[in-house]
Amino acid sequence: MHISVIGTGYVGLVTGACFAEFGVDVTCMDRDETRIATLEKGKVPFFEPGLAELVTKNFQAGRLKFTTDLHKAVDDALVIFIAVGTPPQPDGSADLSFVDEVARNVGTRMTGYKVVVTKSTVPVGTAKRIRELIKSNQSQECSFGVVSNPEFLREGSAIEDFMRPNRVVIGADSPEAVAIMKDLYRPLYLLETPIVITDVPTAEVIKYASNVFLATKISFINEMANLCEKVGADVQMVSKGMGLDKRIGNKFLHAGPGFGGSCFGKDTAALINIGEKSGYSMTIAQATKQVNDQQRNRMVDKIVDAVGDLKGKTIGMLGLSFKPNTDDIRDSPALGIAEQLMKAGCTVRAYDPEALTESMKVLPKLVPCRDAYHTVEGVDAVVLVTEWNQFRNLDLDQIKSKAKAPIFIDLRNVYDPPRMQQQGFYYVSVGRKTVGTRPA
Ligand code: UGA
Repeated sequence: MHISVIGTGYVGLVTGACFAEFGVDVTCMDRDETRIATLEKGKVPFFEPGLAELVTKNFQAGRLKFTTDLHKAVDDALVIFIAVGTPPQPDGSADLSFVDEVARNVGTRMTGYKVVVTKSTVPVGTAKRIRELIKSNQSQECSFGVVSNPEFLREGSAIEDFMRPNRVVIGADSPEAVAIMKDLYRPLYLLETPIVITDVPTAEVIKYASNVFLATKISFINEMANLCEKVGADVQMVSKGMGLDKRIGNKFLHAGPGFGGSCFGKDTAALINIGEKSGYSMTIAQATKQVNDQQRNRMVDKIVDAVGDLKGKTIGMLGLSFKPNTDDIRDSPALGIAEQLMKAGCTVRAYDPEALTESMKVLPKLVPCRDAYHTVEGVDAVVLVTEWNQFRNLDLDQIKSKAKAPIFIDLRNVYDPPRMQQQGFYYVSVGRKTVGTRPA
């Protein structure tokens, strides 16, 4: 089978490379010529573990091809995956102009049956809109299927998530389209992956409901953390105690600076917007967003409480990406916090294993550092924002001797409070008691 994937961002490129790995002939299309030239050299323009190897392997085997020509991508394929960006507009709704453009082109070029699949997160009703656009642009009449096949991959573990998903959701408008999609995903049958077959709007809702539910779990535990700080409880234990109940589950109950990245914030805003347009107020999604927005400010307040007036102070920030194992800084809590600190007159020394270069483009006043130990030299406080593995086992004696003051603010609860106290730190974390003595 030959498929095309339009858009070579995270979702598009992982989808293309993984289907090629399944043995499918794949053409990945992007109108960005530099990006396509880079990909043809086997270089992936962002950091995702294992992806460059998979792209190179399948490109060399001839199963994965790249093009900037949308017409070619449409002509060659039986199944066309739309994985283009749907950036948020000021009102929270998704900008669908790229999706529309692909749909119009599919319409004009189509000479035989095709299945058009949305892979990016798109508002409920998009598949219907695609169907209408294809129909009204068709130069010759031929039948086609429209499918919503949402992606659930996480950055940093995208390949594993694609190859071993918890489930595959296929929302289709015809049995032919379902049969073709099932055929594509056949390699997953060996793993007994559940395949959820449903109608198109239901699949579109499943994607939003899943992401916003996960975001809600995070906001819920962050609220509990804030309460724990007031009543002297420990949110890590609260989360453990809750998570052992199988109905609740222990995942996504880790308190911290709030969720970031390109999905949760955008999808929560989009769901609120979809609700408004449909005449229903999405109260829980609104609260999730509100708690998340305020969580970042609370993190800055923690830093102020620990170091006093920020003016003239120097902070050593560990981690800038929105989570570990990615160089993605979109909506990263670390950058939001760094920006606020700098606005208040702080110097921010920073290090991240992958995201430093990108971060410097957004916040050029950051002081880039070589590693964690270089970052903490002469600082008034160390702030750990992104829990990269290399920050989990720091040489604390070295950290303490290099920093000006032994203040350690751990926004991911990586370290153990009694141990940090024993090491002589004034140690602040999230939803747990602050320990140690604040330096004068
Ligand atoms: C998320 C979903 O997890 C994927 O299933 C989905 O496919 C993807 O969005 C998407 O729609 O494309 P991703 O944004 O890559 O994936 O990252 P997550 O691992 O979900 O983390 C999101 C944010 O939540 C990060 O800032 C992370 O630090 C934070 N988080 C996560 C917490 O603060 N606490 C937790 O317990 C878990």
